[in-house]
This record gives sequence, C-alpha cells and structure tokens, in this order.
Amino acid sequence: MAPQGAPLSIRAVRGEDMKAVIELDALVTGIKKREYWNSLYQRHEKTAVSGQHFLVATAGTKVVGFVIGEVRDWEFGSPPCGWVLAIDVRPEARLLGAATQLLQALCQGFRRARVTKVRTLLARENTLILSFFRSQGMMISPFIPLEMDLMP
Ligand SMILES: CC(C)(COP(=O)(O)OP(=O)(O)OC[C@H]1O[C@@H](n2cnc3c(N)ncnc32)[C@H](O)[C@@H]1OP(=O)(O)O)[C@@H](O)C(=O)NCCC(=O)NCCS
Repeated sequence: MAPQGAPLSIRAVRGEDMKAVIELDALVTGIKKREYWNSLYQRHEKTAVSGQHFLVATAGTKVVGFVIGEVRDWEFGSPPCGWVLAIDVRPEARLLGAATQLLQALCQGFRRARVTKVRTLLARENTLILSFFRSQGMMISPFIPLEMDLMP
C-alpha cells in the first residue's frame, strides 16, 4: 500500500502526468528540466511502439514514481538489451515496493520485446540506487564505462 493507504498501480505515462514527473525529477536531482522532459515525452509518444518504455506508479490519482527504459539494438557490440534510463519514487512513497513494481513492469515490457538482458548505469556514490538494483538481482556487468573531459 502507498501513502494514505491507496493501492499502488503501474501504467503507461500520460501527458497529464508530466507535471508530476518533472516535479519528482527536480526533487531528486535538484534541477528542473521542463523542456527536456516535455521533449522526451513527445519522443516517447512517437517511439513507444519501437522500444521506449515510460511508466508511472500511482497511488490513487497521485503519481508517486516513474521509470524510463529503452531497448537498444547492437550498440556497444551487444545483442539487443533493455536499458533502465531513470527510476525515481517520491520520498513519502518509498520502501513500499513502488520501484520494485515499476522495474518488474519495465522488464515485462522488455521480455515482450524479446530482450533477455537488462542493464543500467549509476553514479558510483549513489548507494541508495545501488542497494535498490542489487536487491532486484542486478550485478556488475562485463562492460566498463569510460569518459574524458572535452573542455580544457
Ligand atoms: C531507489 C528508489 C528508486 C527505490 O524506490 P522504492 O520504491 O523505495 O524501492 P522499493 O520499496 O521497491 O525497495 C526495494 C528494495 O530496494 C532496497 N532499498 C530501497 N530503499 C533502500 C534504502 N533506503 N536503503 C537500503 N535499501 C533500500 C531494499 O532492498 C528494498 O527491499 P526491502 O524493502 O525488502 O528491504 C528510491 O529510493 C528513489 O527514488 N531514490 C532516488 C532516485 C535516484 O537516485 N535515482 C537515480 C537516477 S536514475
């Protein structure tokens, strides 16, 4: 059960959810990115059939979490796999299984797309998200992330 006792449900995102999604992302990251999210939603509407998954968790009528994932084919020399691009749950709705349900629903979508592997990237210092993904059975992958600065 979620806050106020309303049961959780998971469904595809709708346009009217975006205000809550933008607010939740701003709460978690400290940066409000309205344009980014609106363009991501528009792209999602166009590409939903071809591999992007954008789901929300609701408690009653309130959006309490979201997950975004995407199936990518053959990038990095890898057979098609599902990527978890972002997952957030409102602080007052945490530890009630919302993220677990969101990830399970996303993985179901990936399975329907005949994908057999799910991957994600996370910041090394973000032990909270690491604990969550580990609890779901995700482990260190054989891929190594690399980067370099492009500005002097
Ligand atoms: C990580 C996050 C998504 C988990 O959401 P949630 O709905 O609370 O997760 P769940 O209730 O499904 O928890 C599942 C498991 O994750 C682990 N977990 C979740 N929160 C935890 C915490 N605070 N400390 C330790 N383990 C935790 C536990 O193993 C938990 O299982 P348990 O309740 O049986 O112990 C949520 O805390 C969040 O939104 N954090 C900030 C988001 C973020 O940093 N995103 C990174 C950008 S993608």
